[in-house]
Amino acid sequence: MSQTSAPATGGPRMNRRRFLQVGGVGAVLVGGSLAGVRMLGDPSPAGASPVGPSSAAVGEAEAARATTGRVVRRSLRAAPASVDLGGATVQTWAFDGTVPGQEIRARVGDELRVTLTNDLPEPTSIHWHGLALRNDMDGVPDVTQQAVAPGDTFEYRFVLPHPGSYFFHPHVGVQLDRGLQAPLIIEDPTEPGDYDEEVVLVLDDWTDGLGDSPEDILGGLRRNGMSMGGMAMGDMDMGDMDMGGDLAVDPANPLGDDTGDVAYPGHLINGRLPAAPFTVTSAPGRRIRFRMVNSGGDTAYRFAIGGHRLTVTHSDGFPVRPVEVDALIIGMGERYDVVVTAGDGAFPIVAVPEGKDDPAGFAVLRTASGSVPAPDIRPAELGGRLMSYADLAPTDDVALPARRPDRTVELLLEMADGGRRWLINGRAFPDHRPMDIRAGERVRLVMSNQSMMFHPMHLHGHTFAVADRAGRGLRKDTVNVLPGQELSVDFDADNPGQWLVHCHNVYHGELGMMAVLSYVA
Ligand code: C2O
Ligand code: CU
Repeated sequence: MSQTSAPATGGPRMNRRRFLQVGGVGAVLVGGSLAGVRMLGDPSPAGASPVGPSSAAVGEAEAARATTGRVVRRSLRAAPASVDLGGATVQTWAFDGTVPGQEIRARVGDELRVTLTNDLPEPTSIHWHGLALRNDMDGVPDVTQQAVAPGDTFEYRFVLPHPGSYFFHPHVGVQLDRGLQAPLIIEDPTEPGDYDEEVVLVLDDWTDGLGDSPEDILGGLRRNGMSMGGMAMGDMDMGDMDMGGDLAVDPANPLGDDTGDVAYPGHLINGRLPAAPFTVTSAPGRRIRFRMVNSGGDTAYRFAIGGHRLTVTHSDGFPVRPVEVDALIIGMGERYDVVVTAGDGAFPIVAVPEGKDDPAGFAVLRTASGSVPAPDIRPAELGGRLMSYADLAPTDDVALPARRPDRTVELLLEMADGGRRWLINGRAFPDHRPMDIRAGERVRLVMSNQSMMFHPMHLHGHTFAVADRAGRGLRKDTVNVLPGQELSVDFDADNPGQWLVHCHNVYHGELGMMAVLSYVA
């Protein structure tokens, strides 16, 4: 469970200058102010001006999106709530009193109009995770909108650009690690869909009301770094480093030994603890499409269904050439759709926290009478064929056409101060240097993980293609960058605005691992 920044003699991309940045530069964040964030309209260093969320280009991009003309209206009230998790009732924050919040379902091309009412004691927002939506509806306070103050309302209104499995959550502090999250399913009426029924599974790590509050955990990490939260701080195991300084990736254990900072008292599948699990009732031979969302704050899950193989059909909403596996790892913010042919009986659905000793998330697939499997069961499938990105290729209709990048943007991912801060390019957000891009460019992001932990890196407003040997053009918006590894993704800059790119470990993000990709004109 080692936690330390890469040594100065470490990876090939590590040099002395960068090491000094990591070790020597103090935080610029002063009292939570946004010094260092380029506010809208500030001139960029190059003299070009940032394309802000209220710029004409954002409206033009929205007008160019294909629409059905249908409008789907919803209201959401974010408020403190007492929620029954099946085995414990907790005081938490939730959308309309349930965990997860009620799913929103619409069709591609529909316009979504959601009125958010903030009855929380602090400001909030909603981010529509994974959607290439209009920038001013992206829900990032001080980057795309003002936070919604307590007592206020805000209408989110935008066209749904792509079908698939998405979710939404606030983009303020660690509110995501309470109950504020819900699936957003965008249907494609023309999709062939070789299945009989579908089930959404939201996987979530839970502490609020069972252990420390997310804010207390964040505070502890800010003060004490990695020694907090039950995951012991240790020495880096140099045996994991190969001669070139790259960490070797163990295909059976790709995320490494140190996967998270927080030990959670419980893990939920669809808001239920194992004591009273969520149960899928079906019939033998039925083909079930499971849409999995990892809405956790600090936990990757290894997912399997006892007695079943999983045919992976979608990653982060986008279709892949179907691949059959026994288990898959889902990082925070990732989504996968799998199709399963239901067996005859009662089967465990398990989401085992990767690299943690916590009790697993547990649900049941039932197609016949019979006893419920024990929640601590570990089906053999967990150790069977494990999906990797390299197994997945996009279907032809969603593959990004080959093109040489016009611009390469480097993101160096580093830990600093023993885990009190997490950095992109030597800075902890909101101190950051926006990375300029221009509309029309093919952009390559080269993410170099200089730390001993994996980072599920998420880009707002775009779905990229994994560009290197780790993936054959797989379309995603959230990708696990493994310890000591470099991973490149390509995207077309076709959605003007200011877009966050960050680690979806909510604690890493809040401790600085966020930056802005800034369209300039
Ligand atoms: Cu789901 Cu910026 O995040
Ligand atoms: Cu991270």
